[in-house]
Order: sequence, then structure tokens, then C-alpha cells
Amino acid sequence: MPSRNSSFKYDICIIGGCGHIGAPLGILFASKGLKVIGYDVNKKTVNQMNTGKMWFIEHGCEKLLKKTLREKQIVFSADPRTVSSAAFLIICIGTPVDEHANPRFSVMDDLIKLLQKYTDLRNQILILRSTIYPGTTEYIQRKLGANIKIAFCPERLAQGSALKELRVLPQIVATPEKRIRQSVRSLFSKINEDIYEMDNFQEAELVKIINNTYRYLNFSISNQFFMAAQRNNLNFDNIYKATTYKYPRMKGFGNKGFVGGTCLYKDTMQLNAYLRNHFALGQAAMFINEGLPDFIIEILEKKYNDLKDKTVGILGMTFKANIDDTRESLSFKLKKILSFKAKEVKWHDPYLKNDKNYMPFSKVIECDIVVLATPHRYYQKRVNQLKNIKNFYNATYWQI
Ligand SMILES: NC(=O)c1ccc[n+]([C@@H]2O[C@H](COP(=O)([O-])OP(=O)(O)OC[C@H]3O[C@@H](n4cnc5c(N)ncnc54)[C@H](O)[C@@H]3O)[C@@H](O)[C@H]2O)c1
Repeated sequence: MPSRNSSFKYDICIIGGCGHIGAPLGILFASKGLKVIGYDVNKKTVNQMNTGKMWFIEHGCEKLLKKTLREKQIVFSADPRTVSSAAFLIICIGTPVDEHANPRFSVMDDLIKLLQKYTDLRNQILILRSTIYPGTTEYIQRKLGANIKIAFCPERLAQGSALKELRVLPQIVATPEKRIRQSVRSLFSKINEDIYEMDNFQEAELVKIINNTYRYLNFSISNQFFMAAQRNNLNFDNIYKATTYKYPRMKGFGNKGFVGGTCLYKDTMQLNAYLRNHFALGQAAMFINEGLPDFIIEILEKKYNDLKDKTVGILGMTFKANIDDTRESLSFKLKKILSFKAKEVKWHDPYLKNDKNYMPFSKVIECDIVVLATPHRYYQKRVNQLKNIKNFYNATYWQI
């Protein structure tokens, strides 16, 4: 790995440095003594991160951010020229799909323009960390020149547990060039001892997509079984408990509930695009998981005849428990359909107190029907109040 006495001011520049993936990674590297700059197009989050305050919940990060800022190991900037000032560039920008559920290639084309303008990739090493459509690393290499130094090192952590998982989840380092692999390996060895080397970009890109797609499919299996049980007036929680009780072959069985967040659905759709729509399993999973809010409303309509004269409360709006991220949360889909069907919809989430529509928990549980959508610890601590709700529906995996 280039040493500090190389011509670069920083060891690492994280592109997308203020994001959910870029920020914890940069902070962790900085805490290990590397000089880090987080470049991000979002000036607001750049300014906030430079004050030492995280703009999203990531357990343990804020303390380490403050420390590394104080020690001048890390800084954040919205100036694109900063990408020329580091030995390693780590790409952590968002890679969304478009309205047709196809990858948005323009994101990569904008990135290529930035790199063409400000970097010298014969001397700097480019590491792609965002989850990308298979073939993207080779595409970037083709556009920037065969002689650039490039590797693909996917991020596989779960939001909320970043600092812990960055240290323990094996880090894939993929590039056919042995010398580059060695340099990148020694960089990641600063934060993680478990490095897994691969020499083929596309195989490594597929590893990441398959990791996420597998989880998405797995949740859809549980959701399908949950719907089957409910349609027959049976309690899925009882069935789940018994199927998994001391039965090792069900070890990997997921559980029911909303599947949100920016990754699982998106990456299943990227795989679908890669397979040119010949991915019936992924398409079925998408219909099942995305259909869960509709299914729940159908059940409520049957049970209470009609929802037109009912107020409905939703508990939990973020896409998973104990974080403040609402991206692609199916609670919002539930709310949207209910707003059309019911008399009124109210919601509560302990992590969204600053939202203008925030309602206190005590008000939301007074609704005619209450749906638990995200199993935050906050609700688990109030289990007795939940048990007293007359018309309560638990859409989560948490067994009450
Ligand atoms: N969030 C997760 O749990 C998770 C886990 C594993 C992998 N990933 C993957 O990591 C990538 C990033 O996800 P995220 O959740 O951190 O997204 P994010 O939106 O939180 O962060 C992306 C950041 O990049 C910045 N950005 C966008 N375009 C830029 C550009 N051209 N130059 C500089 N900055 C730019 C944005 O302002 C934002 O701060 C995605 O590919 C995602 O699929 C995410």
C-alpha cells in the first residue's frame, strides 16, 4: 500500500463519504491511523459530519467520528478536486434502479466523468464498493483505460451494525492483477483480518448480488407461508416456532414481515435485469414481499367488514427495527393504501420524532385498529400496552 510519504495528502478518499456505507468505513479507517477524506456531493451532510454529528443512526459511529475529527484523521468535503489527493479512492455512492427496475447506469457515467477529470488512476487505486450491476467494474475499466488500477470490494454489512460487521465479515477483494490485490488486501487488513481474494470482477459482483437476493427470496418464502396460514385462519407464529424448534435443517429459515431498505429488492431486480427477465423466482419474491401490505389490508377488511369508518394506527415506519432509515419502507406503502381505504391513518415511530406528521405513541394506540409494522425495542418494552389493544395486528416477526 502506498506509504504516507507518497505524494498524496490522504491515504483514502471515500467517494460518497457521508453515506450509510461510506461514512462508517471512512471513520473506521481513520480510527486505525489512516488519513481519510470523505468526498460527497451533499453539502448539507458534509457540513454536519464536519461538526462531529452523524445525520443517521449507526451504533458507535458518532463517538468515533468526534475522536477522529479531533485527531485530524478524517475530514469531509464537497469539493470534487479532493479526489486527486488520495492514494486509494473507494466508491460508496448509491446505485439505484430506475422506474423499470433496471440499474441506473447514468450514476456510473457521472462518476466516470469525475474520475476522468480529477484522477490519475495509473498512480491511484480505484476500489468499487457500491453494489453494482454485474459487468460494471469492467465497464468502468473500459471507459477509463485498461492500464488503470482497479478492484471490486463489496460492502456486505447490515445497517446499524456497521462498525462491528466491518471488522468481522470476510472482506472480498477482487481483481485479476496480483499486485493490486496485494495493495488492496493490505489496506483492508487495517480493519479486518479476514480477506477473501478473487480474481474475476464479475464473479465477485455476483457474490454481492446473490447474497442480497438470497435474503430477499428467503423472506419471501416466509411471507408466502405466513399468507397461506392466515388465509386458513391459522397462527403462523405457532407454526414458525414448531418448524424451527431443534430442527437444524430450518436454520436459515427467515421470518415474516416487511422487507424494505435500499438493497434487497433493488439487488433482486438487478439480478433480474442481468438475467434478461428470466428470473421467475426473483419476480415471484418481489410480488410476494411487495404484496404484503395489500395482503394485510385484505385481512383487516375481512375481519372488520370495512375500514371506511375506522381509524388505523401504524407503529413503526422505518424499514427495520432500531434505526432511523425510512428508505423503501413498506410501512409507507401500508399507510398509502390505508389512507385510501380507512377513515384516518395515524402513525408513530420513536426514531422519526422530527417528522411533521409524528404522533405520540399514546394517541396512535387509541385508534380502532393498530398494526405493528416495525418491531422497534421501544415497542417491545411496551408489550403490556400492546396486549391491551383491542384490535391489534402484528405484521412483524416479533412473537408477542
Ligand atoms: N445501506 C446498506 O445497508 C448497504 C449495505 C451494503 C451495500 N450497500 C450499497 O452501498 C452503496 C451505498 O449505499 P448507501 O446506503 O450508503 O447510500 P447513501 O445514499 O446513504 O449514500 C450514498 C452517498 O453518496 C453520495 N453521492 C452520490 N453520488 C455521488 C457522487 N457522484 N459523488 C460523491 N458523492 C455522491 C450521496 O450524497 C450519499 O451521501 C449502494 O450501492 C448500496 O447498494 C448498502
